[in-house]
Amino acid sequence: MILEPNKREQVIPMPVVLISTVSKEGIRNIAPYANVMPVLRPWNLIAIASWIKRDTLDNIRETKEFVINVPSADLVEEVMICSKNYPKEVDEFVEAKLKEKQSKKVNVPSIEGCIAWLECILDKEIIEEGKYSIIIGKVVYLESDNQYFKNGDMDFEVARPLSMMAGDEGMYFTVPKDTGDYRKYAEMFIGGK
Ligand SMILES: Cc1cc2nc3c(=O)[nH]c(=O)nc-3n(C[C@H](O)[C@H](O)[C@H](O)COP(=O)(O)O)c2cc1C
Repeated sequence: MILEPNKREQVIPMPVVLISTVSKEGIRNIAPYANVMPVLRPWNLIAIASWIKRDTLDNIRETKEFVINVPSADLVEEVMICSKNYPKEVDEFVEAKLKEKQSKKVNVPSIEGCIAWLECILDKEIIEEGKYSIIIGKVVYLESDNQYFKNGDMDFEVARPLSMMAGDEGMYFTVPKDTGDYRKYAEMFIGGK
């Protein structure tokens, strides 16, 4: 089957995160983002792609801070509430009935009940004028809920971090499933080092 080139997201699974921000007037905002990518190992940068018309983007530009909250699949309803195009004056913590979790290194609140929280400061912005922007954030503090970690790694079948596969007219929300195949990074290098 041949697809249109702009159907890329129908063939690549995408993570779904909730980005929390605050406007310069102090209004709290939450929006789901799926265009999210850590910029290589072992650094601390993370990139997100945003349409220009987003309160999230305005707020990041205003305060230079944001939190990437990792929701479990239990939060799909809240994700969809936060995806609505509320006016900037609307507090989306209130709309989605989500509670604040105090952040440690930024002045933007995190979201209680998520699996993990990446507190970020704006590192760089790559702007396609009038269309979109790629925000690169530096993760200054990363925390995860202990109950979803075992032996230092996420127990992802228990935590069920939300992801999605895009369809032609909607999104299929998905969660990761272990294939039973675990490989050490060292295997990528000849000689194993
Ligand atoms: C699952 C999901 C993923 C989304 N991913 C993105 C994204 O990566 N970039 C983007 O600009 N908008 C994305 N959106 C749309 C925004 O979440 C939506 O427009 C939201 O209202 C923006 O809120 P804001 O104006 O308060 O920032 C996504 C929506 C959903 C439901």
